[in-house]
Amino acid sequence: MSTNILWHEASILKQERREQNSHSSFILWFTGLSASGKSSIANAFARKLFEDNKQVFVLDGDNIRHGLNNDLGFDEVSRKENIRRIGEVSKLFVESGQIVLTAFISPYREDRQVVRALVEDDEFIEVYVKASVDACEKRDPKGLYKKARNNEIPNFTGISAPYEEPLHPEIVLDSEHNSIEQCVQQLHAFLIEKGLI
Ligand code: ADX
Repeated sequence: MSTNILWHEASILKQERREQNSHSSFILWFTGLSASGKSSIANAFARKLFEDNKQVFVLDGDNIRHGLNNDLGFDEVSRKENIRRIGEVSKLFVESGQIVLTAFISPYREDRQVVRALVEDDEFIEVYVKASVDACEKRDPKGLYKKARNNEIPNFTGISAPYEEPLHPEIVLDSEHNSIEQCVQQLHAFLIEKGLI
């Protein structure tokens, strides 16, 4: 625990940044199984927002685990710490006036709830990218499900570790039956309807 530290007030307020950007800032928290399409949808949607002059950034599990979180594995405690750090980083992005899209399996409800509680009510949009284990296993773009079935990867989400479906996500994208582009369109329409973009 840190001690003897004081909070410095920022000279530029979040609200001022939002006004300069002409849009709100919030977290689009994509959750779902490996190979469900989280990263693909997040990146395609970020591109769309960027081309619409929005300040956006994508934080992606596979990439963040190469750097900031390269000390973490996939046991329950490590995943909790993974999500805690990403939550804190995402909060900074929201403070900086950006729309941050996070693509992490984030299999535990409690861990996602911790992030939700970190920010204001309208700053956390839980996006459940829904595809069954069967569908993800058929896709298996990185061959990880095959390895998990062969016991070569322990604690693999959906096979040997749990995935706790969101109970009240802001939006569900059915990526098993819809294309990436259809999911992007659905999300776009939802955010417009909510007045967030
Ligand atoms: S999380 O559960 O802690 O949120 P995160 O999204 O950061 O996971 O990383 C998931 C990615 O790590 C997967 O897409 C996959 O490529 C890789 N991976 C490696 N081992 C595992 C595992 N045991 N379970 C799930 N994904 C794994």
